[in-house]
Amino acid sequence: MIEVSRCQNSRIDTVDFNQLTFGKTFTDHMFCCTYDQGVWQNPRIIPYGPITLDPGAKVFHYGQAIFEGMKAFKDDHGSVFLFRPDQNITRFNKSAQRLAIPEFPEALFFEALKTLVDIDRDWVKAGHGHALYIRPFVIATETGVAASPAGGYEFMILLSPVTAYYNEKLKVLIADHYSRAADGGVGFAKAAGNYAAQFYPTNLAREKGYHQVIWTDASSHEFLEEAGTMNVFFRVGDTLITAPTNDRILDGVTRKSIIDLAHEMHLDISIRKFSVTELMEAYHSGDLKEIFGSGTAATISAVSAFGHKDKLYTLPEVSDPYADRLKHALQDIQYNRANDPFGWRVIV
Ligand code: COI
Repeated sequence: MIEVSRCQNSRIDTVDFNQLTFGKTFTDHMFCCTYDQGVWQNPRIIPYGPITLDPGAKVFHYGQAIFEGMKAFKDDHGSVFLFRPDQNITRFNKSAQRLAIPEFPEALFFEALKTLVDIDRDWVKAGHGHALYIRPFVIATETGVAASPAGGYEFMILLSPVTAYYNEKLKVLIADHYSRAADGGVGFAKAAGNYAAQFYPTNLAREKGYHQVIWTDASSHEFLEEAGTMNVFFRVGDTLITAPTNDRILDGVTRKSIIDLAHEMHLDISIRKFSVTELMEAYHSGDLKEIFGSGTAATISAVSAFGHKDKLYTLPEVSDPYADRLKHALQDIQYNRANDPFGWRVIV
């Protein structure tokens, strides 16, 4: 049973929903649940606000923390839908297992999502581009600097009204020195540290005018794997190519939705390893038509150019790009403008 304490005064009237910076504004409430003595307990929804932690909490010392990113959408009639929450819940517990964090009960996770989003449903704006970004996470709260898993954790869910993550087409740099993930590592998990470890190489790329890095496999830097906060797709001729997931690559919910939509739209899609050599050959022969990234935050974000070993390669403008077609098909389902043959929408 989730205990609910509502805030006295909503902050909603102070927010300009047309001038949002991604992930900077949070709604009135948050969900918390504490792990202690081997059980998740005291599930509660409370007013959004700071929390107090002991500076010895293990999250500060060993980064024992995982998160998820998901979204809710409002249709033109005021109904609010979660998009494929089951996928995020399952992936959350895979990440938890890898980081030696106790799994969070699926039914309680789902109930918490629905209850919290319902309480703050006025913060979900209808209309194209508006969404509620949902950020579940767990941190290790037990005090102690022994390098071992904590005995205490806090699970929380925050809600943030958002619009687009990227407002322009992206320039991406292909990694040829730094790596995001290694075989047997945590690349597939949404471990907080996976993202922190990208900041420095991404900053170096930004200094050269790029938005993001396309990560390659750590051993040869030859296979194209993931783009910053997104999975990545390449269109060569009329075939869409994306890397198969493995223990280095995040099993993106938007990625798998795109694969299903591409099949439904009878687009040719190939899930296979794709190399830098093939990319360069396709670029030079004129067969490389599009590159785009996919992610919950970024939705589908088209790439305008990529860099490799200090050279910039600009992609051609194509008519009726696959990125746009797939994005429209995805958003039509998310905003309840189209049938949902896959059963992805979950009404709140
Ligand atoms: C998401 O797309 O939800 C992500 O996890 C990206 C986030 C790091 C902004």
